[in-house]
Formats: sequence, structure tokens, C-alpha cells
Amino acid sequence: MRFSHLLVVSTAYLRLEGVLATTQLPLADETLMINGVTFDTRVRWMRLANQALGELSGSPCPFAAFGTVIVNHTASDEGELICMGVNENSKTGNPSSHGEIAAITNCTNILTDPNGKFRLTATEAQAAFADLSLYTNAESCPMCASAIRWSGFREYIYGTSIARLIEKGWGQIRVASVDIFEASFDLPYSSRLMANVLTNETDPYFLWQYDPSYPCPRGCSRTKSGKSCETASD
Ligand SMILES: *[C@@H]1O[C@H](CO)[C@@H](O)[C@H](O)[C@H]1NC(C)=O
Ligand SMILES: *[C@@H]1O[C@H](CO)[C@@H](O)[C@H](O)[C@H]1NC(C)=O
Ligand SMILES: *[C@@H]1O[C@H](CO)[C@@H](O)[C@H](O)[C@H]1NC(C)=O
Repeated sequence: MRFSHLLVVSTAYLRLEGVLATTQLPLADETLMINGVTFDTRVRWMRLANQALGELSGSPCPFAAFGTVIVNHTASDEGELICMGVNENSKTGNPSSHGEIAAITNCTNILTDPNGKFRLTATEAQAAFADLSLYTNAESCPMCASAIRWSGFREYIYGTSIARLIEKGWGQIRVASVDIFEASFDLPYSSRLMANVLTNETDPYFLWQYDPSYPCPRGCSRTKSGKSCETASD
């Protein structure tokens, strides 16, 4: 029993790794211009997903360092920011308020705000997501990847992969986004997935939490106990 259980787990993990190694890695190629958007532009938005942490959570090094920005690239290749969101579990007490969910909720509020820029009806707001791209600094958990597919996003772009998070000590539900996307063929919109974009800049937000020897993100330093990172006092 034990052995077969182990086998199932390791097969699932290998599958996660295998998918990332084959299907997803080439999508981070810097020379590619997908949907008319250059890699430099993708980099700019991924950086904003990192910066959203400081702007929305008040710290550049929150433990749950998951940041999301939602962008309209159909308006221009450069893209227009619609909204941002960061993980709000500890702020709101809502365990399902991951960065992507917070951003989707924020965008919905912004799109339907009767005094806002867009003033869409609920029906129009739902349809509006088909034009939008979601950038997140780490691969979405299966709940968020599903929410991304239900929303009908045109594109989904992530930095650090779930496999990397697991490797660095994070507890995760071990289903890759590509598997959620693969199983979503009944849904009306298709969505383009781009993986491992700018991981050299997203990884540092996720590699310090379980590794006391890893440096804190910029603007932060180790607490006295060394267990955590906090905003550096200068
Ligand atoms: C996105 O851009 C397209 C093309 O300009 C526009 O039709 C659409 O209304 C925009 N969506 C939002 C939510 O701004
Ligand atoms: C929603 O997005 C806007 C625009 O990016 C941002 O200014 C605002 O702080 C966000 N609100 C929340 C609750 O994240
Ligand atoms: C990360 O890599 C990108 C190219 O993929 C590069 O443009 C950027 O300068 C690198 N960032 C750092 C901090 O080295």
C-alpha cells in the first residue's frame, strides 16, 4: 500500500515536472512576440505584479508574496492596466482571497463601478475579461487557474512555477495550470498560457520563506530570529 501510494505521488510530481520541462519552458523565450506583445513589454507587466506587493500590501516582502496585474493588450500592444491584486488572506481572513482572486474581484468592481471609468453592466463586465491578460508572479494554484479559465482571460502569464515553489518548501496543491487548462475544453473562450516569464526576478520573492540562508527581497532584511523578512529600517 505504502509503496503504491508513493508511486502515485511521485508520478504526479514527475508529471508536473515533465510538463514544465517540455510544454512550458519554451514559452519564456525572450525572442518570442506572442499576440503582438514583445518580451520587454511582458517583463514590464511582470515587474508590476512584483511591485503590487509593496503598493497594496504595504510591504515589499509579505510572506504570501503573490501579486497579480490585469492588463488590456487588445487596446495597445503596450497594454493598459485595468487593476491589481495581492494575496489578502491575512488582511481579510478570507482563505480563498489569493492574489488572482483578489485581482479578478477588484477588476469586476472597477469595471462595474457606476461612478468609474468603465461603468459596465454585470453582463458586459463578464464579457470584458475575454480581452484581458492576467500576469501573476507565481503560477496559479488550481483554484485560481480554474477562476482564470472561468473568467475567459485572453492570456495568462506567470513567473515562478508551482514545481519551483514545492522544491523550495511551499505546500501546494500539485496540479499544474496547464493541466487545468487542458481539462477546460468545454468553456467558451480559449486562453493562451505563458510560463516562467522573468523568473530571475519573481523567484527571489518566494525563495526566502523556508530557506534562512536566502537573502530577503530588496527593501527587506532578516528579522533577529532569522526566520522571517521584514521591511528594512534605514
Ligand atoms: C480593451 O481594449 C479594447 C480595444 O481597444 C476595447 O474595445 C475594450 O473595451 C477594452 N476593455 C477594457 C476593459 O478596457
Ligand atoms: C485595485 O486596482 C487598482 C488599480 O490598479 C488599485 O489602485 C487598487 O489599490 C486595487 N485595490 C485592491 C483592493 O487591491
Ligand atoms: C532578468 O532577466 C531578464 C531577461 O530575461 C533581464 O532583462 C533582466 O535584467 C534580469 N533581471 C535581473 C535583476 O538581472
